[in-house]
This record gives sequence, C-alpha cells and structure tokens, in this order.
Amino acid sequence: MFQWKKTVYKSVLFSFVLVVTVTVLQRGMTPSQLLQGQQPKEFLSQEPVKAQKRDNVLSVANNFWKKEGSVTKAAEATEKQVRTWDITTTNCTANLNFSKDDWFKGLEPNFQQFLLYRHCRYFPMIINHPEKCSDDIYLLVVVKSIITQHDRREAIRKTWGREKEVDGKKIRTLFLLGVASKVEERANYQKLLEYENHIYGDILQWDFLDSFFNLTLKEVHFLKWLNIYCDRIRYIFKGDDDVFVSPNNILEYLEDQKATDLFVGDVLYKARPIRKKENKYYIPNALYSKPHYPPYAGGGGFVMDGLLAQKLHKVSETLELYPIDDVFLGMCLEILKVTPVAHAGFKTFGIVKNKNSRMNKEPCFYQSMLVVHKLLPPELLQMWDLVHSNLTCSRKLYIL
Ligand SMILES: *[C@@H]1O[C@H](CO)[C@@H](O)[C@H](O)[C@H]1NC(C)=O
Ligand SMILES: *[C@@H]1O[C@H](CO)[C@@H](O)[C@H](O)[C@H]1NC(C)=O
Ligand SMILES: *[C@@H]1O[C@H](CO)[C@@H](O)[C@H](O)[C@H]1NC(C)=O
Ligand SMILES: *[C@@H]1O[C@H](CO)[C@@H](O)[C@H](O)[C@H]1NC(C)=O
Repeated sequence: MFQWKKTVYKSVLFSFVLVVTVTVLQRGMTPSQLLQGQQPKEFLSQEPVKAQKRDNVLSVANNFWKKEGSVTKAAEATEKQVRTWDITTTNCTANLNFSKDDWFKGLEPNFQQFLLYRHCRYFPMIINHPEKCSDDIYLLVVVKSIITQHDRREAIRKTWGREKEVDGKKIRTLFLLGVASKVEERANYQKLLEYENHIYGDILQWDFLDSFFNLTLKEVHFLKWLNIYCDRIRYIFKGDDDVFVSPNNILEYLEDQKATDLFVGDVLYKARPIRKKENKYYIPNALYSKPHYPPYAGGGGFVMDGLLAQKLHKVSETLELYPIDDVFLGMCLEILKVTPVAHAGFKTFGIVKNKNSRMNKEPCFYQSMLVVHKLLPPELLQMWDLVHSNLTCSRKLYIL
C-alpha cells in the first residue's frame, strides 16, 4: 500500500516538474516567474505588441536559457527592414494581345519586339553594390554603358568618373549595364565584366538585353535601385559613356542651387517625334501620335536632385515604357509638373554641326562646360589633360 502511494506521489511530482519545464521553455520565462504566477506582460495583453518591444522583454527572460543576444540581434534585423532588390526570377512572356492587329504587323521588327515585352518591368540583378551609398554621398555619377565598351569605362574612371571628395562632398561613380545583346558576346564578355567589377567595384548589372530600346528599362531599374539603396543621395549626374563631363563645374553649379525638384540639362521644349524611318529616333504614329514631346533633357548628361529621383521612381511605375529613355523621363516630369531647366553648359546634342569646327577641339570651350557630347576614349583622355593643364582662356568663354 505504502509502496503504491510512493509511486503515485513520484509520478505526480515528475509530471508537475515536466509541465513546469515545458511551459517555461515554451514561454521563455524563468521557473520562478511561472511558479509565482508572474506572466510577462505580453501574454496577458490581448493586443498585438510591436515586435521590437516584445523581443526586448522576452530577451531578458530568454537569456536565462539561451545564448545571450541571439534574440535581440534577430529583432534588430527585422526592425531595420533591410531592403534589397526583390526581383529574383525572370518570368516574362511576350504579350501577344495585339500581335494579329494590322497596325502591329506594319511595324518595324524592333518596335514589335519592344511592344511584345513592354509590360516586363523589372529583372533580377546580376551585379549589385548595395554598399555604394552607405556613406553620405553628395553626387552620384551614373553612366549608361554596355558590356563591350570597356575602354570607355576605363577612360571615364581616369577622368571625370574618378571617385573623390571635394570640400567634404563625396563623389561616387557607377556604371549601369544590361547583358550583351549578341549571344556570342555574352559568355566571354561577362567574365571580363565580372573581373572588371572585381577590380573597381563600380558596376550595376541587370538581367535584360542591352539594346537601344531597353534604355528606358535601364532608367527605371536605376530609379528603383536608387529608391532601395540610395534614398538619401543629394544629387545625381546621369549620362552616356561617350561624353566629356566637368565634375568641378557641376559642383560649382550645384553650390548655388537652393531649389528643390532640380532637373537640369540640355533641354528640348516642344520637340517633335521623328517620323523619318531612317532616323535612329524614329517613332511610328502607332506609338506616339501627339505632335510634340513634353520638355525633356538630352539623356547624354543631366543633373537631378535625389528627392526628385525618388518622385520620378514612383511616377515611372504608373506609366507605360516609352522606347526613348530621355523622352520617357520628360513624360514623368510632366506628370510631376516639374519643368526641366535648360543650361548652356550642357551640350548633349552635339556642339556644332560642322565636325571640323574649331570649337570641337577647343579646350577653353570644354573647360567652361558641364557636359559635352561626344568624345571617344582617346579624345576624352587628351581633352581632359588639356583642360587640366595650365590653360589661358579668354573670359568670354565662361558659361558659369
Ligand atoms: C510565369 O508566368 C506564367 C503566367 O504568368 C505562369 O503560368 C508560370 O507558372 C510562371 N512561371 C514561373 C516559373 O514562375
Ligand atoms: C492582354 O489582354 C488581357 C485581356 O484584355 C489582359 O487581361 C492582359 O493583362 C493583357 N496582357 C498584357 C501583358 O497586357
Ligand atoms: C529588353 O530586354 C528583355 C529582357 O532581356 C528582352 O526580352 C526584350 O526583347 C528587350 N527589348 C528590346 C526592345 O530589345
Ligand atoms: C602650371 O603652373 C604652375 C604655376 O603657375 C606650375 O607650378 C605648374 O608646374 C604648371 N603645371 C603644368 C602642368 O605646366
């Protein structure tokens, strides 16, 4: 009889200890809290408690059982909400909705391809640099480039794209790329690009074909990237890889700027869509039927402020893509009711028509400019050296 009681007593005691242990482990309390009926606040509260707050309370109790700090660290990670590029797969099929329409069949193949894939907005990143904006950057220089134009990037790194700090203002440079549009170029050039990126760490690459009509895709990808990784940037210079740029003149210009919604460049007001089929910028009526474009700055080089870039990102997502990237930005600006500012120091549509003009080789002219189109690597390196030598220029050439 006595032996039987003892066994029951033992099992009851054992069960009690087991229940206490399990409960304590589950709730992350100390055994004394449970035994004294002290429930941590959040178990009594009916309302959801903010993660941060609860984890702080919990972590104190948990430290009794768990390795120190593990919960707190996890909590910090969720709180910061580290944002990353959220497109990881390419799933884009041609939109055949209008492929049987006569107006579509009458279009040139490149326009057909553009329209078939126009709805595919974002692609995964192949090369990223989330750390590029971790400092306070004053001016971010971004350059549209393609995989095969390695020599242009090299010349830019040696000249106007050199990362530096001027009076405490940090300047950083990034090149924006898609993938090689020719299959035979893809494998080899990709390896070289990755090596180049390994050395310089200044390449952003997305998984879309680097074609002329995909430049707008590059624009919206960059704006989205900026929104995720660089939302506190002061100013952005965005341009082509075959231009001459004077970062010092840009800095000088920006010093006097107080206005918000700054968008400055070589602005065209009331430009007409080009209807000649031979032209690189030809646009069929089916794609744009209005007589004029909204004001826009030539994509060869322009400057905007960081807050405006954030607004442009938002607005860009509400518009259908347009095959010409700088016109597309003009359309976004029009919705924002921001008029781009024309500045004589931006010459992105060429300087003078006559290629042999003295102006095209005049370093004093370049010295006074912010952006000049178009210079290939050897000319760029040469002109850069000339402009930064001891030039004696007459005053009247100064634009700033
Ligand atoms: C891609 O999208 C199509 C239709 O939108 C869907 O049927 C298919 O399952 C998707 N494939 C992947 C791999 O997500
Ligand atoms: C094609 O048309 C259908 C029906 O009008 C529509 O639901 C769909 O979104 C269209 N596809 C694209 C890619 O726009
Ligand atoms: C743009 O890139 C996408 C993805 O690589 C491709 O499917 C599409 O054909 C390209 N569009 C043009 C007009 O080159
Ligand atoms: C430019 O002139 C300064 C003095 O005026 C001189 O010290 C310097 O060496 C010169 N630089 C070049 C590249 O000639």
